Amino acid sequence: MTEPIQPFAKRPATKRFLKAVSGQITDRPPFWFMRQAGRYLPEYRAARAKAGSFLDLCFNPELAEEVTLQPIRRFGMDAAILFSDILVVPYALGQNLRFAEGEGPLLSPVADAALLANLGFDAFHERLSPVYETVRRLKVGLPPEVALIGFAGSPWTVATYMVAGRGTSDQAPAKDWAFRDADGFQRLIDLLVEATTAYLVHQVEAGAEAIQLFDTWAGSLSAASFERWCIAPTAVIVQKLKARFPDLPVIGFPRHAGVLYQAYAERTGVDAVSLDPTVPPVWAASALQTRVAVQGNLDPRLVVAGGAAMTEEARGIVEALRGGPFIFNLGHGFVPETPVEHVAALSNFIKGLAR
Ligand code: CP3
Repeated sequence: MTEPIQPFAKRPATKRFLKAVSGQITDRPPFWFMRQAGRYLPEYRAARAKAGSFLDLCFNPELAEEVTLQPIRRFGMDAAILFSDILVVPYALGQNLRFAEGEGPLLSPVADAALLANLGFDAFHERLSPVYETVRRLKVGLPPEVALIGFAGSPWTVATYMVAGRGTSDQAPAKDWAFRDADGFQRLIDLLVEATTAYLVHQVEAGAEAIQLFDTWAGSLSAASFERWCIAPTAVIVQKLKARFPDLPVIGFPRHAGVLYQAYAERTGVDAVSLDPTVPPVWAASALQTRVAVQGNLDPRLVVAGGAAMTEEARGIVEALRGGPFIFNLGHGFVPETPVEHVAALSNFIKGLAR
């Protein structure tokens, strides 16, 4: 008989990444990088060409598994992040989505509450089933010491794309709706809380060992709006996940939240926060790390530069944060022009940090 599948088993963490994300200090900092699978890798570009479009790649379990594993093979990170995208959630709710070459995502805008009637759960898990299949494959395909991170976008950030129908520099369409008709916009956020929770529960049941919530546009909100559209929905998602999986580690990434990182760490219930490059590591050590694990926060442009500028900045981050629970990462994702040799040098630098 095969063993029953144990979603997020309650064994004490043995993987370096899982130790750190649950609050332990580790022999050396575990590391992984946002957008570690992506266009800077020639083998990613080959898999992407084979798949067809970017969405075809997200929904092809064999190739999505392959691109998830590619950076692990090359650089030996302590964690792999599922290859998918935050916008598969609106797609699964019924919104049209395509990724135009050189333009990023394009969706049919959901600009007011009346348009919410077009969205729903009819085909939700069926459309996402290839993603769950990718997670199941990775559970088998990953080296045993490497942890598997599942993820979703946070409701506010996903809403900014749904409402505008594309990426925006100022998130104006979502803000305008939220300020004009807060109750209507709340219905969109509530829908996303429910969808995101259901999606993440399925990822954990399939084998994800930790979750990261990406709130890329958190920093565009005023303090009061941040409380309502970032902290509150995140807290509900975390509480629902923890009710189901009490020991599941959750990382939150409220990018560019500045001093509001503190309120986020205190009130959302996350186990760890991912820091963008503007957060001073020494401040994070005293203001955040006493309560949560921290992850970050090298500027991705420093990995484009490479050399001493990169390693000296990385060293400063490590020195400021390794006294508490800490995961080394970037402050945002790799850009396509990042030289592969610089990623190798950075990975070797972290792997060389013995206690
Ligand atoms: O390696 C990983 O980090 C895992 C996979 C991952 C992708 N997107 C793959 C991707 C993750 C975790 C994301 C999250 C994501 N997607 C976010 C939050 C984090 C962030 O970067 O701020 C956001 C805002 C999106 C939405 C999105 N996806 C945009 C705006 C774009 C276009 C911009 C761009 O870089 O092209 C994407 C496309 C995307 N998602 C790519 C990858 C590897 C590039 C697409 C390609 O191969 O052509």
